[in-house]
Amino acid sequence: MKKISLIFLLALICFSCSNEKKRYVIGVSQCSEDIWRNKLNTELKMSGYHYDNVELKFASANDNDKLQIEQINKFVNDGVDLLIISPNQVNTISSAINRAYDHGVKIILFDRKTDSHKYTAFIGADNFEVGKTMGCFIAKRLNGKGNVVEIEGLKGSSPAIERHNGFISALKEYPGIKLVGRRSGDWTEESGHNAMDSILAKTIDIDCVFGQNDRMTLGARQSVIKHHITRPIFYVGIDALATPDGGIRSVSKGIMAASYIYPTSGDIVLQLAMNILEGKPFKRDNPLKAAIVTKDNADVLLMQTDEMNRQRSKLESLHNKVDMYFVQYNHQKVYLTLTIIILAMLIAIFFMLYREIMMKRRLEEETSNAKLTFFTNISHELRTPLTLISAPIEQLLEDKDATPSQRNLLQTMKKNVNVLLRLVNEILDFRKIQNGKMKLELSKFNLSPFLKQWVEAFANTASKNHITLESSIPEEINICADIYKLERICYNLLSNALKYTTKGGKVLVDAHILDGELNITITDTGIGIPKDKISHVFERFFQAGNTIVSGTGVGLAIVKAFAELHKGSASVESEEGKGSSFSITIPLSQPQTSDVPELDDDQYHSSHYEDSDDLPTEKASNEKASRITDSETEEQKPLALVVDDNEDVRKFIADLLLPHFDIIQAADGSEALQKAIKEVPDVIISDVMMPVMDGLELCKHIKSEIATSHIPVLLLTARILDNQRAEGYDCGADAYITKPFNGKVLIARINNLLENRRRLKLSVATGDKEDIVAENTDKKFADKFRKVVQYHLSDPELNVEFISSELGLSRVQLYRKVKALTNNSPVEIIRIARLKKAERMLATTDKTVSEISYDVGFSSPSYFAKCYKDYFGSSPNEKQVK
Ligand code: FRU
Repeated sequence: MKKISLIFLLALICFSCSNEKKRYVIGVSQCSEDIWRNKLNTELKMSGYHYDNVELKFASANDNDKLQIEQINKFVNDGVDLLIISPNQVNTISSAINRAYDHGVKIILFDRKTDSHKYTAFIGADNFEVGKTMGCFIAKRLNGKGNVVEIEGLKGSSPAIERHNGFISALKEYPGIKLVGRRSGDWTEESGHNAMDSILAKTIDIDCVFGQNDRMTLGARQSVIKHHITRPIFYVGIDALATPDGGIRSVSKGIMAASYIYPTSGDIVLQLAMNILEGKPFKRDNPLKAAIVTKDNADVLLMQTDEMNRQRSKLESLHNKVDMYFVQYNHQKVYLTLTIIILAMLIAIFFMLYREIMMKRRLEEETSNAKLTFFTNISHELRTPLTLISAPIEQLLEDKDATPSQRNLLQTMKKNVNVLLRLVNEILDFRKIQNGKMKLELSKFNLSPFLKQWVEAFANTASKNHITLESSIPEEINICADIYKLERICYNLLSNALKYTTKGGKVLVDAHILDGELNITITDTGIGIPKDKISHVFERFFQAGNTIVSGTGVGLAIVKAFAELHKGSASVESEEGKGSSFSITIPLSQPQTSDVPELDDDQYHSSHYEDSDDLPTEKASNEKASRITDSETEEQKPLALVVDDNEDVRKFIADLLLPHFDIIQAADGSEALQKAIKEVPDVIISDVMMPVMDGLELCKHIKSEIATSHIPVLLLTARILDNQRAEGYDCGADAYITKPFNGKVLIARINNLLENRRRLKLSVATGDKEDIVAENTDKKFADKFRKVVQYHLSDPELNVEFISSELGLSRVQLYRKVKALTNNSPVEIIRIARLKKAERMLATTDKTVSEISYDVGFSSPSYFAKCYKDYFGSSPNEKQVK
């Protein structure tokens, strides 16, 4: 996870590095809002497109000083880097500009000036020069003689002052020109109109109107028209905008005689701002040049501006597109970065998972190898002592003086030593295979008779377990192979098939030749293999589950390895609950067939297997007598149910217990459960790992069946781990003894369990609740039993049949359960309950003894009196209330 975070962080750093250029915010504070200022704002915006690190913010004060001050203060508070200001008047907003300047904000005064020196630069036309140019133009047009009126801009604004001064200085040169009227407006058309109204009220002897901007000039003209002045007057203004009702068009149409291009030049203004911000050289005073527009150049200028406007709108639409692409590009950049990050994370996760899996595999491989080495070492160690045990047993068996029971014990020992030897050899063989040291001992032979013989060897076990064993083997299978290895393959597959097939099932051995290959398939109707386990069955140490019968777990791995040694293969098909089908396919000949000898009949000795030693033995139900009783003693002993899939173990335990218990046996959990329900034994001693139903499952069933829930279950098993022991107790086991066990300890533990059970007797029917100590199922049973008895107590017909049918148990089950729980038979309990009730009635009612005897369900008062005396030691008459 740490690595993923690191990658994520790096990606973010890379991403943010690409945006390192410093960004600037420029505030534009306009004194008013009109088409001239709109033009300037547009030019500023357009120029802003050339810089990707500039943000422009605009504000207009609508000719209001107070508002402009507020707007400037807000810009400063918002942290702008530079302010472009057109101050409304010379001295009204200087304080705000000074504050901004002192705050470190760069100030550009544009078009208008203040009385303060606190600004970074000024840019704009020379208004004195503008006024002077227009004065000269008028004087010349009037040929040095005539009357002029001037309409000035906002009083107190620097252009109004300077333009006037320029205008006067020009007129001074022409004494024949008289300034016959002078009024101030506020730069608007309306103010021009009003000013002219006021002038006309004084004089109409006017040849020219000079307005300090075009809007006021046109307003004044409206006033003249309104006053129906017939005298020819020409009009002159300033600004010369190329808009539809702007100055250039008015000049072109002859409405005005001249105007002056008062430059906006937003691009130059922004360039100056950027130079200041980026620390490049700049001039403090930046005059903008322009020119006068008359009838002579108005059309050309219009054409030019039209062309410029066209280009500008193209540029603008181009820019909009670029903007759009840029937004898209930015989005794509973010997506790309995210995709790269996600991809990097996925690769990292994939890599880590891959590493984890590889490590796990390696670990598994190492564990498996360690296991194999461990088993191999142990097997080596065991082989010598086992051989040394096996040989003396053989000798002892040959001793003619041995008694039949000694011979029996020796046979059991011999059989089990052989099982151990086979298991040990299996491990050692597997090790040999792993090391590549296992070699084929080839010979040529007809496999058919051998195969039949191997199948036949299992016939006995199959029939003992009620399993049908069938084979379909052709008369001749001429093959070149290692006969002992084929035998091992068949043995392992057959014993497996029989292990997992239950009573009534079927095992079929089919051999046939197809395309020069031998195929042997062994199909069973056994328990099958779960889907998720099927691909692992040929892996070493594979065990399908809990209920597996003993084994090293390498049997099937050996089958596969031996088949592959013959250049063949092994496969399996299986369906859980329906059975399995194992196949091996091997070629009829091996590469080195030419020098291989024929198999000499005497040369082959069935390697080791007379019959399967560790298969589930004959089902215990088939034993001659289902209940084994020690014939020497007639007395009824407690009944023990011994459950183990190994016949020898079962027999051994049964022999151990026989002096103290009557014995019944079962070879698996399912058989045991049936017997337990039918016979209700006093104790169950069960193995844990068994086919069909294991000991844990059996225990759960026993504890949940009402007929058997009281029976103590002792688990006897090789599972020695604490959690396995805990699992046993979780399933309701009363005791857990691990193998190998000591016979005396086993008997003592069983007696102990029975003794405890005896001490915890339930008072099932008598109503005395103080000594009730019972498990849930038993408690429920006791409650039910008590209710039935109490409810029907006065009914003389209340008997065992009635109670057992009410409780859903057989007579035997009821008898054995009640006896086990209370030490009394149901009949005794009913009688005791009746007597106890009678005793209470004698003490508390006026009824006669015979009335009470009938009330509590006795059919004869004299029998009642006898039972009463037997139980309480005194006659009922003595107890009666006097
Ligand atoms: C625009 C304007 C122009 C004029 C200038 C003087 O607001 O009134 O018409 O030339 O300002 O500052």
